[in-house]
Amino acid sequence: MPAVRGKDIEVLFSASAIARRNLELAKEIASRDYTDLLVISVLKGSFIFAADLIRAMHDVGLSPEVEFIFISSYGSGTTSGEVRVLRDIDNEVNGRDVLLIDDILESGKTLSYTRELMLSRGAKSCSIAVLLDKRMRRQTSLNADYVGFDCPDSFVVGYGMDVAHAFRELPFVGVVKGEV
Ligand code: IMP
Ligand code: MG
Repeated sequence: MPAVRGKDIEVLFSASAIARRNLELAKEIASRDYTDLLVISVLKGSFIFAADLIRAMHDVGLSPEVEFIFISSYGSGTTSGEVRVLRDIDNEVNGRDVLLIDDILESGKTLSYTRELMLSRGAKSCSIAVLLDKRMRRQTSLNADYVGFDCPDSFVVGYGMDVAHAFRELPFVGVVKGEV
């Protein structure tokens, strides 16, 4: 078990498993008839997944435009709170195919809110890609169009995801265990 910052981290999804899955997701996305694709990475947690997924998309022939929206749904704790847009995108979404990329779909509050926002701005479609799906935590009717992995009901870190601002840099997804 890798030790990071004095904690044991159990690897749930390895860097190589994630890379393989990203390519499969990219192929799935490429098989749809999106005409004018605008990818929106939901910050902060999705930044590494989005960076890898858009390069996998390039490898299968897609050339999306890329934007970032900064959504806060968590505060500093680990329970879902109110959804707020902290920094909006600059692009026009009217008439375009939007693909939201996020790290985890949990209650669904963050992505339902963001999806409704894009549709209210006239997006032609708004699909959702998430690395991890915690289905057992859902509080909305939202489901993702593209899911990397089903996630157990544990708090995960790494590959962009943090606990109290730590562990985003890990190249894998893991669960923090005890002190080393
Ligand atoms: P929800 O779907 O609105 O409940 O919130 C999903 C968001 O909560 C994700 O985009 C993450 O930012 C955060 N989140 C949920 N579970 C975890 C976790 O296990 N580790 C890190 N962040 C999480
Ligand atoms: Mg998030």
